[in-house]
Amino acid sequence: MIIEPVVKGVVARSAHPYGCQQAIRNQIDYVRAAEPIVGGPKKVLVIGASSGFGLASRIALAFGGSNADTIGVSFERGPSEKGVGTAGWYNNIFFREEAEKQDLIGKNFVGDAFSVSMRQQVIDYIKAEFGGKLDLVVYSLATGVRPDPETGEMWRSSIKTIGESVTGPTINIETDTMEPMTIDTATEEEIEATKKVMGGEDWESWIDILSEADVLADGCKTVAYSYIGPEATYPIYHKGTLGRAKIHLHDTGDLLNDKLARIGGEAYVSVCKALVTKASVFIPAFSPYILALFKVMQDKGVHEGCIEQMQRLFSQRLYGPQQHVPVDEQRLIRIDDWELDDDVQRQVSQLMAQITPENFTAVGDYQRYKTDFMQLNGFWLDGVDYQERVNLEALKALTP
Ligand code: NAI
Ligand code: NA
Repeated sequence: MIIEPVVKGVVARSAHPYGCQQAIRNQIDYVRAAEPIVGGPKKVLVIGASSGFGLASRIALAFGGSNADTIGVSFERGPSEKGVGTAGWYNNIFFREEAEKQDLIGKNFVGDAFSVSMRQQVIDYIKAEFGGKLDLVVYSLATGVRPDPETGEMWRSSIKTIGESVTGPTINIETDTMEPMTIDTATEEEIEATKKVMGGEDWESWIDILSEADVLADGCKTVAYSYIGPEATYPIYHKGTLGRAKIHLHDTGDLLNDKLARIGGEAYVSVCKALVTKASVFIPAFSPYILALFKVMQDKGVHEGCIEQMQRLFSQRLYGPQQHVPVDEQRLIRIDDWELDDDVQRQVSQLMAQITPENFTAVGDYQRYKTDFMQLNGFWLDGVDYQERVNLEALKALTP
C-alpha cells in the first residue's frame, strides 16, 4: 500500500513508518554534530518517550554525548485492520534499532504510564536487566485523561481560561484555514481535573515508587517539562487551566527535590519553548503566537525544534561543566530563554497584531508550522520515497 497523509482538524489519522525512521535519523545526526553532553547520565527512564520532548530527550541522551541506555514508556498503537498505527509506535521501534546499532539499550514499554502494572514492569526490568539503578528520570507525558487510581474513573483535562473567556484565531491544519475559536472559562472541577492529569501528582508517584523499589542511584536526577510563555498568551495558557496544572508541576519539582536530597539527588522543571507537537496543536487561539514566533526566531537564526531544545538542556543546563544547574528565582530551568528574549518578543507582538485569517500563511511562518506537523507523522521528509509501496505484513512483524 501507499501511505497518504490523512489529517482531521489538528489530528493526524495516518503516519508514515519510514518517514518516522528518517525523522529519528535526522535527530540523531543533529545531536551527534552538536555540542556534546559531558558528564551525563548512563541509565535513563523516559516516561512519554515516543514523541515530542520525550523522544528528543531520549535521542539526545543516547546519541548526543552521554551514550545512555534508555527505557521508554509510551502509549501508542501498532498496525491493525484499522490502520498503519501511530507515529510514536514507529518512533519507538526505529529508536531502539538505532540504539542497538550503537550497543545501547533502547527498551520500550507500551501501555498506560498511569497504571500500577506499568510501574511494576519497569521496576522488574530495571532490576533484572538494566543494571538495577537509574540516574535520570525524564517525565514528559502529555495527555487529556488519567484514571483515578482509587476509583478507576477518568479525570479529563480541559484547555480553558480562568476568569474570562477568550476568542482568538485557531489553525485548522486539515483545511489550511484560521477560524475564530472561543475558549470558555473553567469550572472549579475542571481546574482540579486538569491539575490531576497534567500536574505533578503522577510524577511524584513514579519517583516515590522507584525510590521505594530502591532503583534510583545516588545523585539521581529527575526532570519534567513546562511552559510559561509571554504575557500576551497568559490568558490562554499560564493563567488558564494548563498553567494551573503547570504550577502544581513546579511545586512538585520542589517537593521531589527535597525528597531526593536523601540520596544526593535533584529534581527540576525545565520551562521549554513553544513548539508544534501532537499535544500543542490542540491549544486554541495559540497558533497566531506560534506562527509569529517561528517567523521571528527563524529570521534571527535562533529557531529551535524539540531536538535542539533538549540537546541544549542536557549539555548546558542539567549536565555539563558548571557546578550547579542554572535556574531562575523560582528554581526553574529556563530553556525558553531565546523565546522570551526582549527583542524576539517585541517583534513577535508587532507581527501578531498583523496576522489575520486572510494573511496568516504569508505573514507568519505557516510553512514551518505545517511542515513540523507533517514531519511529526513521518510525512514531508526529504529522502523518503513516498511512492514506494509499504508492506503492511512487514510492518506487523516489527515489535517495540
Ligand atoms: P507529545 O504528545 O509529543 O508526547 C507525549 C508523550 O506522552 C507520548 O510519548 C505519548 O505516547 C505519551 N503518553 C500520553 N499518554 C500516555 C499514557 N497514558 N501512558 C503512557 N504514555 C503516554 O507531547 P509534548 O508536547 O512532547 O509534551 C511533553 C511535555 O512537554 C508536556 O508536559 C508538555 O506540557 C511539555 N511542553 C510542551 C511544549 C510544546 O510546545 N509542545 C512546550 C513546553 C512544554
Ligand atoms: Na514527550
